[in-house]
Amino acid sequence: MNIIFLGPPGAGKGTQAQRICDALNIPQISTGDMLRRAMKEGTETGLKAKSYIDAGQLVPDEVIIDLVKERLAQDDCKNGYILDGFPRTVPQAEALSAFADIDSVIELAVEDQVLVDRLSGRRVCVNCGATYHISTLNGKTVCEKCGESLIQRNDDNAETVLSRLQVYHAQTAPLIGYYTEKGLLHAVKGDQGIDNTFAAIMDILGAKA
Ligand code: AP5
Ligand code: MG
Repeated sequence: MNIIFLGPPGAGKGTQAQRICDALNIPQISTGDMLRRAMKEGTETGLKAKSYIDAGQLVPDEVIIDLVKERLAQDDCKNGYILDGFPRTVPQAEALSAFADIDSVIELAVEDQVLVDRLSGRRVCVNCGATYHISTLNGKTVCEKCGESLIQRNDDNAETVLSRLQVYHAQTAPLIGYYTEKGLLHAVKGDQGIDNTFAAIMDILGAKA
């Protein structure tokens, strides 16, 4: 099954994609993670992406489309995948339709005020990318999966979060209408707790939670 996770920053795309991918045994293709890795490794793509990511703006379509096209051509994507954070503009969605058949688009809907709180309290593992929130960490500063340090993402500061939200509403939200017209969109309430959200998505995908 080829699935898209659509939703504003902090909606829970990464959290749910990790869980659904484990359950369905398919890869999570997170463009944000790919770009952060490229920045860490100092590749040409990483250097191009840095100023956009730091400012909470989208990386240009031509940079991201080729990256995703190459990734989806790899062997592990043959039995399906979850796209987490792509497409994010109508031109990206149109480009995707030329090299992928999408079965379902899951839209995670969450109010902006909740998102600001989630992002300011998010911590991620430097090593495996596992995601946590300070409200449930009880002061722990290492990853429970691999024991490495937890950090705050550079773009999770208050000012950048606001521009990411504006960018979402202006450039990515139009994809809700785009995929509704294609009969692919399923909206899920993303503010109902991680387990309930997971169960709702599994229900839609027709698999047992
Ligand atoms: P990206 O990394 O994709 O960031 P994003 O879309 O802003 O989304 P986030 O990763 O911040 O949030 P999420 O929805 O994954 O939430 P999470 O599960 O972590 O992109 C970063 C940047 O890269 C972009 O700004 C852009 O510059 C660039 N980029 C990436 N893709 C691009 C593209 N296609 N085109 C152009 N540029 C691109 O959860 C957040 C927090 O909430 C966590 O603390 C979590 O524990 C908590 N939480 C999750 N679910 C729940 C729940 N149900 N209840 C309570 N808490 C919850
Ligand atoms: Mg994410």
